[in-house]
Amino acid sequence: MAPARNISWLAVACLVAHAAAAPTRNNERAANITDYTSLVRMFIGTVKGGHVFPGATTPNGMVKAGMDTDSPERQAGYDGNLTYKATGFSQLHDSGTGGGASLSNFKLWPYADCADFSTCHTSLSSRKVGRQVLPDGSSPDRASPGYFASNLSTGIQVELTSTRRTAVHRYTFPPNTPSPRILIDVGNDGMNSCTKPSLTIDPVTGRVKGGGNFQASFGPGRYNAFFCADFRGEGYNTGPPTQYGAYSGDYASANTTALSQLGQLGREYGSLSTFKPNPSGTTSIIARVGISLISVDQACSNAEQEVPDFNFEGTHQANRELWNELLGRIAVDTTGVDEETVALFYSSLYRTHIVPADYTGENPKWKSNEPYFDSLYCNWDTYRTLYPVYALHDPLTFARVSAGLIDIWRNEGWLPECRGATVQQYIQGGSNSDPILGEFFVKYGDYAAKLGISVDDLYKSLVQDAENQPTNWDLQGRQTNLWKQYGYLPTDIYEQGGTNTRQVSRALEYAYNDFNIAQVAKLLNKTEDAAKYHGRAANFAKNWNPAVSIEGHNGMMQPLLKNGSFGFTDPRHCSIHDPTHSTCYLDAGNHDGFYEDSPLVYSQYVPHDTAKLIELQGGVDEFVSRLDFIFEQGYFDATNEPSQQMPFMYNYANQPSKTTLRAREVIGSTFNTSINGLPGNDDSGAMGSFVVSLMLGLYPVPGTRQLLLSSPWFSKVSFFNPLFNKTTTISTTGFEGNPAPGATGNIFVKSVTVDGKAWKSACYLDWDVFSVGSSVVLELTDDASATCGMGSDALPPSLSTGGFT
Ligand SMILES: *[C@@H]1O[C@H](CO)[C@@H](O)[C@H](O)[C@H]1NC(C)=O
Ligand SMILES: *[C@@H]1O[C@H](CO)[C@@H](O)[C@H](O)[C@H]1NC(C)=O
Ligand SMILES: *[C@@H]1O[C@H](CO)[C@@H](O)[C@H](O)[C@H]1NC(C)=O
Ligand SMILES: *[C@@H]1O[C@H](CO)[C@@H](O)[C@H](O)[C@H]1NC(C)=O
Ligand SMILES: *[C@@H]1O[C@H](CO)[C@@H](O)[C@H](O)[C@H]1NC(C)=O
Ligand SMILES: *[C@@H]1O[C@H](CO)[C@@H](O)[C@H](O)[C@H]1NC(C)=O
Ligand SMILES: *[C@@H]1O[C@H](CO)[C@@H](O)[C@H](O)[C@H]1NC(C)=O
Ligand SMILES: *[C@@H]1O[C@H](CO)[C@@H](O)[C@H](O)[C@H]1NC(C)=O
Repeated sequence: MAPARNISWLAVACLVAHAAAAPTRNNERAANITDYTSLVRMFIGTVKGGHVFPGATTPNGMVKAGMDTDSPERQAGYDGNLTYKATGFSQLHDSGTGGGASLSNFKLWPYADCADFSTCHTSLSSRKVGRQVLPDGSSPDRASPGYFASNLSTGIQVELTSTRRTAVHRYTFPPNTPSPRILIDVGNDGMNSCTKPSLTIDPVTGRVKGGGNFQASFGPGRYNAFFCADFRGEGYNTGPPTQYGAYSGDYASANTTALSQLGQLGREYGSLSTFKPNPSGTTSIIARVGISLISVDQACSNAEQEVPDFNFEGTHQANRELWNELLGRIAVDTTGVDEETVALFYSSLYRTHIVPADYTGENPKWKSNEPYFDSLYCNWDTYRTLYPVYALHDPLTFARVSAGLIDIWRNEGWLPECRGATVQQYIQGGSNSDPILGEFFVKYGDYAAKLGISVDDLYKSLVQDAENQPTNWDLQGRQTNLWKQYGYLPTDIYEQGGTNTRQVSRALEYAYNDFNIAQVAKLLNKTEDAAKYHGRAANFAKNWNPAVSIEGHNGMMQPLLKNGSFGFTDPRHCSIHDPTHSTCYLDAGNHDGFYEDSPLVYSQYVPHDTAKLIELQGGVDEFVSRLDFIFEQGYFDATNEPSQQMPFMYNYANQPSKTTLRAREVIGSTFNTSINGLPGNDDSGAMGSFVVSLMLGLYPVPGTRQLLLSSPWFSKVSFFNPLFNKTTTISTTGFEGNPAPGATGNIFVKSVTVDGKAWKSACYLDWDVFSVGSSVVLELTDDASATCGMGSDALPPSLSTGGFT
């Protein structure tokens, strides 16, 4: 159970909201933008496997009200390809994930034209219809933060908005619709996985409520979800429903009020209600749908509290204001930058805040006053850039997510790695709450008490991952026993309790996890622990086999056997050049040691000790030559996170201009504002936050106080931190806009000043710059020979060269 805290989350929220609302808060604000939400292109990544959720949610909201389609890929419910038909408008979703299509729960569906209640087609396959495609062939779907609209071929306009736990739908029926009807589908959650369904209809109030038990997306667990729907005419009184009944399969049974009255249920069931049309004008019916993961009653009270007045426009405006305030904390000057570039930036920033989702008060597993965040899907994806972006402008959410992680440890015994729909999901790499808490503590540790975080518990939860092995290490913790015994994960030892794959990539992550624990230990003056975990963080070098090479690049991360001999995995494995075309996903048959990226890429990615990597590779020239090889030969894989740091790594070799060029090439060639503008899944915002980092010219090294530096895509950027009530600006001299990718221009950083004083490096900034609210000026040049500087601390720090101490 959670120990009592002398902190109220509400008090923190008020404090922060107050600071944010202060009119003079951002007097150095960079931008001339007044409506940030207008710059968000919601449909980026809604086709071709991006799996982005384009519906209505508040920032990190639990409810995500959106349209579902009959597309094979419907992980977020929706596919922007107009070939696919609409099947319903459901209340909970993830964004940018793989796995199964979970959380498309409780689809509402409007009918304008079914003549008779009992013959109205209720099953998903017979009710679904196309969208009302515009004459030029384009989509009728419209969306902006907090709002989604579509027009169906039946002439019905659908609009959605939301609060944290309540969806508000508005169905506008064609003129003279005699019998507007609305169905609620309990059985089809996206995977037809419902068991234990419940449903009741109140014939007097029209309220429909119920729930069920459903399959999660990426793990063995199941979750409960409940809804409570009320209907109200907009501008007129519908009165009680004129007809109502539960349905099973394709038939609704008039006057029934519960599923139990239908006899044997098939796989599809729910309710159907008919309403009186507006006698004096257009018929718009508001459906207010409260959601809870605890109970039907709580779903009703959530709706009653959050949307007491059924006011669609008011709910929409309040939602939009939350987004505007949040997005505006990172304000860019648009001078000299085209609108699509600005839109790419804010759309990407928007997607860093769809998930994780704030399920506080809705955790069915234990009672606690701590925040509870879910849709951590997965920390493996998001620890690298998403939380470091939160650190820049949203410390309160970052703190609340962190408190939620720790509370999961407190109650389940282990920090979560992947989690969705309230259950543990499959681990991809290490225990990657560690670098999230490491990042939080290094940047906000001094404010932990103020932010409601128990430092003691934070540290204990980290040590648990590092020292103890759970019985099922596919769902929590790590394979710690082997890691402690060998300092690597032998590929010829098969342990009970998990999938004996990815031993090399997992060991590299364990090293980085331990580095993060060392960073926290150091700040807590736990000197011995710090030394121990720093030592374990250096273990990554054990997997380095100097004898394996590719095209003259000697030395690779390779599998190791228990007797200390190396196994062999082709350096091209998992890449587009892999002769065996391995996918390297979570596959029990994949025994080659690597996950979702090639040995070549993993041999280039040790964020806490790049200097050691350079040494292992034989020096800076070889290191740069490898980076070039990775980019020029197509080994850089923008769809998978281990590649993400590559563009910025030239900074470690004192060649920051190459960083600038590569970062701009990556954006230019792979990310844009089209609906297909993502190279793959958004990975719960990991790709969005990656784009944000590249366009800001600030690439984080999580769990450290350093941010790698390059030129931003804007002449000036300001960061408002509502906890500190401070604004930091990064402005440039000589900004001349953004040349085409690959072209040069005034984009290289020649020198840096902070508050008027020369800064030690042109290749990184320290967190102190942001915590005190500084004015950073970057002098830009077109001279690509610019370096990090001449001083001894001009290069970003690394563990083996004494950095971070
Ligand atoms: C935040 O800082 C501004 C000055 O930059 C000040 O006017 C305002 O009162 C501060 N707000 C709070 C809540 O301290
Ligand atoms: C839409 O999906 C259909 C069916 O899979 C496919 O044939 C078509 O190419 C897709 N359209 C676009 C624009 O991607
Ligand atoms: C959708 O339908 C509504 C009502 O007929 C109409 O006002 C609106 O312009 C339509 N939207 C689109 C994008 O076609
Ligand atoms: C349902 O109840 C209404 C009102 O009592 C009645 O008129 C109607 O015939 C009933 N329908 C069925 C199918 O029983
Ligand atoms: C902001 O100012 C720039 C430069 O004056 C201009 O090009 C741009 O249109 C302005 N943007 C907005 C949203 O007003
Ligand atoms: C750690 O030691 C330093 C230096 O003595 C001190 O300033 C700091 O407050 C200590 N931190 C903790 C958490 O005890
Ligand atoms: C280690 O084990 C492997 C596989 O059994 C074997 O081929 C290799 O020779 C062994 N190496 C040593 C140093 O004994
Ligand atoms: C947008 O990005 C996608 C994904 O990387 C790419 O396939 C597409 O060609 C790009 N479109 C444009 C117009 O650049």
